[in-house]
Amino acid sequence: MSFRPPKGTDDIGAPESNRWRDILRQWDTWADRFGYPLVMTPIFESTDLFERGVGEDTEVVTKQMYTFTDRGGRSLTLRPEGTAGVVRAFLDSGARGAWKGAYSGPMFRHERPQAGRRRQFWQLGVEYLDVEGPAADAEVIELGYRFLSAVDVPGLKVVVNSLGDTVCRPGYMTTLGSYLEERREMLCDDSLALIDVNPLRILDCTVCAPVLADAPAMKDHLCEPCAGHYGLVKKSLDGLSIPFEEDARLVRGLDYYTRTAFEYIATQLDAAQNAVGGGGRYDGLAESIGGRRAPGVGFALGVDRIVLASGKDAGSQADVYLVSETGPENALIAASGLRLAGLSVDFDTEGRRVEAQFKSASRTGARALVVLKGDGDEVDVRIGGEREQMGLDAVPEWLGDRL
Ligand code: HAM
Repeated sequence: MSFRPPKGTDDIGAPESNRWRDILRQWDTWADRFGYPLVMTPIFESTDLFERGVGEDTEVVTKQMYTFTDRGGRSLTLRPEGTAGVVRAFLDSGARGAWKGAYSGPMFRHERPQAGRRRQFWQLGVEYLDVEGPAADAEVIELGYRFLSAVDVPGLKVVVNSLGDTVCRPGYMTTLGSYLEERREMLCDDSLALIDVNPLRILDCTVCAPVLADAPAMKDHLCEPCAGHYGLVKKSLDGLSIPFEEDARLVRGLDYYTRTAFEYIATQLDAAQNAVGGGGRYDGLAESIGGRRAPGVGFALGVDRIVLASGKDAGSQADVYLVSETGPENALIAASGLRLAGLSVDFDTEGRRVEAQFKSASRTGARALVVLKGDGDEVDVRIGGEREQMGLDAVPEWLGDRL
């Protein structure tokens, strides 16, 4: 009998996982640089939280949740996204005033699997809570953009829109509703199913796009405060030299968004999954899950898609491969010394022939070789075209300048 990973999930090992590790490390650096401490929330939450937070009529809630009843009879759901859980944790903590949290971890959605659309996938995200000003939105958008640029996502594009608020959106929905009603016969079946429950999502439908080319746009129906907010977000992005496009059809798949909505697109990927990340403002989410008013803004990036888009060769894990002519016990001691001095080191524990060890060294792609010789205390160190003999103690400093 043999087992495979469940449909839509993956085993990820080296060398691909070297790329993952690099991305996750860079994420920590960038989140830190923008002042986001780590926040960790449970992987499963009460089902209610997602129904009320993400929205009962969204596809995520109606079709994609992994919901189960635990032994105590509670309905729980594997988190399909991170925002609802983080906002719940924030409310639960009793914190007040501007609050930041960054997260990284697996999310679960029962989708039809394909490249870049998995049932278990990894999100990196931030939430910035109890803040209303457009500078917060711009800072959040900037963080995602700087990070995605740093990890070399090619053809990166930022798309923004404003979805209005509880003051201006209802009027717009009425206008959009009558526009769609007049074109009922021309809509595809999926859009027809949405017309009464979530008409905004119809704007997202690529099949219906040609017949909806002149659909009313939310950005032309914003109330004054929303229009002012949106204008300042765009002005700040210009000030930060972040290139962006406006797209009146960007509506996002989760119900909690108000005002700013945005996506990061990797133009090289297939249109169906070229969003490497998305986010926006959600001023009503905290109240919809039973808390006080706590406006916020955030995003989540999909690591599976970042890896797919950048498809770069993953570098080696070790700086140094240690080849031993004197057996693995000596190599073990030598490797330990180099590791304690801060180098990453790999070696063969099995006592294989020296030629086999050299082969392993080139397979791992380690940048430097240290050869423990049979004839004395000196080791042979090689990096690039350089080669030197020295005592083991001198290796970390010598290599430190060259790695
Ligand atoms: P989302 O657009 O549903 O937003 O997901 C964000 C990103 O997660 C997507 O752009 C995509 O890269 C990745 N993603 C989503 N589903 C999958 C999947 N099945 N397979 C692989 N990658 C996937 C959210 O989740 C919001 N919580 C973002 C947010 C944070 N808004 C405000 N704060």
